[in-house]
This record gives sequence, C-alpha cells and structure tokens, in this order.
Amino acid sequence: MIRSTAFAIPALAASLLMASSVAMAQAQPKLKVGLMLPYSGTFTALGVAIENGFRLYVDEQGGKLAGREIEFFKVDDESDPSKATDNVNKLIKRDNVDVLVGTVHSGVAMGMARAAKESGTLLIVPNAGSDAVTGPMCAVNIFRSSFSNWQSSYGMGTVAAKQEKKKTAMTITWKYAAGEEMTNAFKEGFEKEGGKVSKQLTLPFPNVEFQALLTEIAAAKPDAVFAFFAGGGAVKFVKDYAAAGLNKTIPLYGSGFLTDGTLEAQGDAAQGLLTTLHYADGLNTPRDNQFRLAYAKTFKMQPDVYAVQGYDAAQMLATGLAAVKGDVSRKAEFAAALQKAKIDSPRGPFTLSKSHNPVQDIYLRKVDGKENKVVGIASKSLSDPARGCRM
Ligand code: BEZ
Repeated sequence: MIRSTAFAIPALAASLLMASSVAMAQAQPKLKVGLMLPYSGTFTALGVAIENGFRLYVDEQGGKLAGREIEFFKVDDESDPSKATDNVNKLIKRDNVDVLVGTVHSGVAMGMARAAKESGTLLIVPNAGSDAVTGPMCAVNIFRSSFSNWQSSYGMGTVAAKQEKKKTAMTITWKYAAGEEMTNAFKEGFEKEGGKVSKQLTLPFPNVEFQALLTEIAAAKPDAVFAFFAGGGAVKFVKDYAAAGLNKTIPLYGSGFLTDGTLEAQGDAAQGLLTTLHYADGLNTPRDNQFRLAYAKTFKMQPDVYAVQGYDAAQMLATGLAAVKGDVSRKAEFAAALQKAKIDSPRGPFTLSKSHNPVQDIYLRKVDGKENKVVGIASKSLSDPARGCRM
C-alpha cells in the first residue's frame, strides 16, 4: 500500500507536467503572417524574391519564430494602389493575420500603412521606399527592412557631381511616389555638389514606351542621365537606352534597382553602369557568403537586394517576437526591442532609426558581367531624414 503510493506520486507529477506542456504548446497558436506582394506584373520577380528570402530565414530557425510556427496567407497586390485597401483588408479582416509583410510598390505600401495604423496590425515593409511610410505615416507598429527612396538615390547625386564631375543631368522615371522621390533625392545630392538638373522626365507606371523620352534626351545632350526603373521595366529601359546608342554618349546612372535582379536579361546593355544601393555583389563577408550559398542551394538562383530585404524582414520579426515571447499585442515592447537591436544582415549590420527605417551604408556599384560589384561606399551609415515623423 505504502509502496504503491510512493510510485503513484511521481507518476502523477509527470503526467501533470506533460499535460501542462501540451497546454503551453496549445496556448501558442501559429503566428499568422500575411504576405501582400506583387505576384503579377512588372514587379513579379521582386515579390517572389522577397517571399523566398523571408521563408529562408524562417526555415533556418526550424520553421518557428519565438517558439511559434508560422502560417502564411498570401495576396497578389498587382502593384495597384487602387486595390490596396481592399487587398490589405483581406489579410487584416478576413484572415485575421498577426503580422503584415508587404510590399514592393510605394503607392500600395502607403495604403497598407494607412490600414496598419488604423487597425494596429504589425507591418514590416520589405521593399517599398515611400518616404511617407517612415515620415508622416510613421507609427509604433510600422517598420521597414529595406530603404527610403531618398536614401537610395541621394548618394548617386553626390557621386555624379563630385567624383564623375558631371555638370548637367536629366532624370527619367515612372510618375509615382518612388520615381519622384528617388529622382528628387538624386537632384538634391547633385545640386548640393554644384550640378544642375535641367529636366525631370516621367511616364505613367508601368508604361515602358520610352522612345519619345529617349529622343528628347538625345536632343538635349545633358552630361548624364539618372533613372529609376525596376523589374521588367528596368530591363526594357536599359536595353532601349543602349539600342538608341545613348550609352556611348551620355552616362546613365541609377538607384541600384535599375540593375538588381535584372542583369541576366539586360546582358551587354548594362555593362559598366554605376548605381547606388544598400546591397551589392562581392561584399565577401562571412555573413553574406553564408546567406548567398543557402539561398542559391534552396532556390537554384542567385539572391538580389529584394531577397535580402525579405530575409531581414523575417529577422526583424524574430527579434521583436523574442522580446515579447511571441505576443504581438505588446507593441511598445516589440518596438523598443527592435530600436535597440543590430540586425545581422547580409548587406552588413544595420540599426533602425527612431522612425523604424534602416540606418545603413549605401554602396556604389558597377555592373561587371552578371554582377553589381561593390566599388565603394557612396554614403556611410546613412539615416533617412524622416521628415514629418512624430513619434
Ligand atoms: C517602390 O515603389 O518603392 C519601389 C519599387 C521597386 C523597387 C524599388 C522601389
């Protein structure tokens, strides 16, 4: 009798322990991550690379962040700002996601930021550089793992004037927030160093009929041209610029999106182009080498800047989640943890500014074969001015 009680007590304790750990596992439901990205149109490859990068980091953590398994919900935003509110509400209201990750297009990202601010849903922007998202729209629950449009292009302006000794330039881009903010940032840097932007050309997004504008550039003969295009539009623009013979007479500069993830398709037309961006080929750091090897093995292709930004969006989520033990409702603590963190990115370590935008080096890159080879640093530890952010 006495002996059986002695055995029964530890057995009872063990089963209670087991029951409580099962209950704990059940108390941590899957973390619902809503990916709102372009899976059609000119930015399709960018959306896919961001998702690949995000999934790679999650897989490296055994499929869980802060002990929570991840369940993905996906919406194709088509890079269409007019559908942004409906699309983001599919994730917020229909799917009840815990975290939003998106998107590529600045106009769509502003719609997402508005909805995230209103609903309080956590948002990590893995590309779109809209200055407003970490400017007037900044909020405790909104973060960016990529860049601001200003940040990507200001340094190219200073390099074109100071190092390349260009006196006059024209800019060309799509007429929407990203194009306008990047070309204005180039102008700001270029004119601060004594250059003059004579004309800023635009065409509607995602139009790729460049011929009339190229004819205008050829007639005006500026010392240089600065362009923002990305994805399929960048491939077409760089090829058309070369086909018109302009690459022989008027140097073309760009924010790095002009040649990132596009070199295979651009071929000879892109050779020698100088661009600025927060990522480059040939960094040759242990962190970047490890990332590139893992990405190439998993997806059978080389990573680009978009893959890095997706990977880092997942790293940022993991950092914030670890601090709040997986509880995304603790927004202030989540934000405080990220504010203190140094993100170990393949691009090089970065911190976040008060407005939750990366403070990072902007590389000067030169196209060589199929690589955007790093040739220098255009701006060291560059922080976005976050004009209009009150937080
Ligand atoms: C943007 O809309 O912010 C954007 C799109 C593609 C590449 C870079 C920026």
